Amino acid sequence: RGNMTVGETAKLLHKDASEVIKKLIFLGVMATINQELDLETIQLLASEFKVEVEIKIPVEEDRFETVEENDDEADLKTRPPVVTIMGHVDHGKTTLLDAIRSTNVTSGEAGGITQHIGAYQVEINSKKITFLDTPGHEAFTTMRARGAEVTDITIIVVAADDGVMPQTVEAINHAKAANCPIIVAVNKIDKPGANADKVKQELTEYELVPEEWGGDTIFVNLSAKHRTNLEELLEMILLVAEVNDYKANPDKRARGTVIEAELDKGRGPVVRLLVQHGTLKVGDAFVAGNCFGRVRAMVNDKGRRLKEAGPSTPVEITGLTEVPLAGDPFMGFEDERKARSIAERRAITHRQSELNANTRVTLDDLFKHI
Ligand code: GTP
Ligand code: MG
Repeated sequence: RGNMTVGETAKLLHKDASEVIKKLIFLGVMATINQELDLETIQLLASEFKVEVEIKIPVEEDRFETVEENDDEADLKTRPPVVTIMGHVDHGKTTLLDAIRSTNVTSGEAGGITQHIGAYQVEINSKKITFLDTPGHEAFTTMRARGAEVTDITIIVVAADDGVMPQTVEAINHAKAANCPIIVAVNKIDKPGANADKVKQELTEYELVPEEWGGDTIFVNLSAKHRTNLEELLEMILLVAEVNDYKANPDKRARGTVIEAELDKGRGPVVRLLVQHGTLKVGDAFVAGNCFGRVRAMVNDKGRRLKEAGPSTPVEITGLTEVPLAGDPFMGFEDERKARSIAERRAITHRQSELNANTRVTLDDLFKHI
């Protein structure tokens, strides 16, 4: 937990203090025997001497799940469903979302604002739905898997002129692994070669059987391009949401998942995240993956500034010191110091496992981690 002096570190590594000091000089650290070293430097030394040092980090304390309080049933409030759109490349996922979003009356006022976020919220008959768009290209398997993990309902989009393809099957598997209800959207029914029944037939192989054939999977035939049957799809989503009554406690610290993150030249790390529990507020300290941050500015998918965001809200925030990874969990903290130290310890653990993964570590490698 605390720091150790050079002398103590030498003992730990079974080396002479002079050897350790020499190594430190080699690593660019000028140190005397009584000087305190931080965990990172101790780790570097250990890996330089090829000594395995297990740094005991109070992991339990750092796990969001253990920090998390249990909710009283009475504190849970109905929240919008999180719906992920998945399917094979070019089957029309983004077109479908675009079509849905323009049916949203409330988005009218925000026209013309560039929207980078892959997560959107629409309001249908005064009921909100949160949508996540996912890429269909085969390279994005992990992204799809993550999408499936944060989602309540999966829409599998299948183009009626193309049928079930490899990433259709992959998406079905992700949704099933995540135990997530599936709605099948058979898209492009306007196209000359479209054959919706053939898609239905193909999907029976994956245990997705429409109601009219004795199964319990909801199918909607539609054309995203011509906006045919969009209403029906939205009704089905709201129906599934009503049956499952998704809930969360909005009155506690925020917890959720990073959807995307990037380094913006002007604004620094920009992070798009989905709040899943609690409420995230401007000014909150938080940890995302191994990164520490404080919410500086927060905007919704329409570019509108928010002071706070509750469950199922996708937001874009600035105020992190580093860029977390898509899929990283995040959590708000009242105590900034605690957030900072958790992020630091996680970063160390991460570097440690990276270092341990390399059998031979070069100086270059080491400096990359500093
Ligand atoms: P990825 O994100 O790359 O996986 O693709 P996607 O599934 O988001 O497909 P996208 O929405 O980009 O659509 C691919 C092409 O199909 C575009 O040229 C769309 O205009 C077209 N398209 C989408 N929906 C329909 C439809 O209902 N009918 C017709 N005729 N074309 C459609
Ligand atoms: Mg797309």
